[in-house]
Amino acid sequence: MTNMRVNGLRGVELAVFDLKETQDFYANAWGLQTVAAADGSAYMRAASAEHHVLAIHERKRAGLAAVHFSAPDRAAVDGLHAKSKAWGCEIVAAPHDLPLIAGGGYGFSVKAPEGQILTISCDVARHACTGDFYDHSRPDKLSHVVLNSVDIQKQEAFFCDVLGFRLTDSTARMDFIRCSSYHHSIALARAQGPGLNHMAYEVSNFDGLMRGSGRMKKHGYNIGWGVGRHGPGNNLFSYFIEPNGFVTEYTAEVDTIDEATHVVGTPDYWAKMMNGPDRFGLADPSPELRDAMHGKFVDERNKRCEEIIAEKMAS
Ligand SMILES: [Fe+2]
Repeated sequence: MTNMRVNGLRGVELAVFDLKETQDFYANAWGLQTVAAADGSAYMRAASAEHHVLAIHERKRAGLAAVHFSAPDRAAVDGLHAKSKAWGCEIVAAPHDLPLIAGGGYGFSVKAPEGQILTISCDVARHACTGDFYDHSRPDKLSHVVLNSVDIQKQEAFFCDVLGFRLTDSTARMDFIRCSSYHHSIALARAQGPGLNHMAYEVSNFDGLMRGSGRMKKHGYNIGWGVGRHGPGNNLFSYFIEPNGFVTEYTAEVDTIDEATHVVGTPDYWAKMMNGPDRFGLADPSPELRDAMHGKFVDERNKRCEEIIAEKMAS
């Protein structure tokens, strides 16, 4: 009998304004490495064996294209697809062989209740070695994705009832859900509209996080929030705004969960434990970072692009 649940976060897929600008940023400033590129797309790996943690596609509009998860085997992929259909989800692509440029494998894509596309796959190619990553300031893996959500209950029911996630912690602002022993792979942030709040890449340790943040500063990207340590997950963080306007985070020391003993932290518990979302309390998020977490800069640039296209069509 297969274990019919998602068992890990693979990566995130973004539509971006300028492929070269974005690829240069993630390679040189952020610390990923390109593994494949063709036809306006690039696939970038971290130090772990995962084929890639970031896929970027040059498009007229930027935005979150998909979040990718792993499942144990083909039977699990087929079972999760059937479960998604039975739940009434919109299936974007039925189970099929995935493109070799993205590591191949077998998977399907489904829309979450608030419209985000999720791809669940197995048998994707893995790297035999950790590449050129001698440096702890470079990400090991994608740690988590935070989605802005209007109807958290509906989103959470889908992730938990269909995909097998479990609730780890809940605060006044966010619910943290897990699909492995990591504290959370997805968090749902209460917001006015659905969207990508941020993505977080895990580095090995505190030293790596500080040195990664220093490299970002050298490339002209100041910390938008941090360095700090969150309450739920107990993870270190530093947040930045990348060239498209998405928020990206270095994180380290994320808690792991003991299924036998874990007790879900409630909003009341966290309100008593913490004055805010940062245990250190050294720095608040900048106004720009708060705006970026709600998609302001991506939306503005999308609008500008649409105006330019409309002007060109009219002339
Ligand atoms: Fe985060």
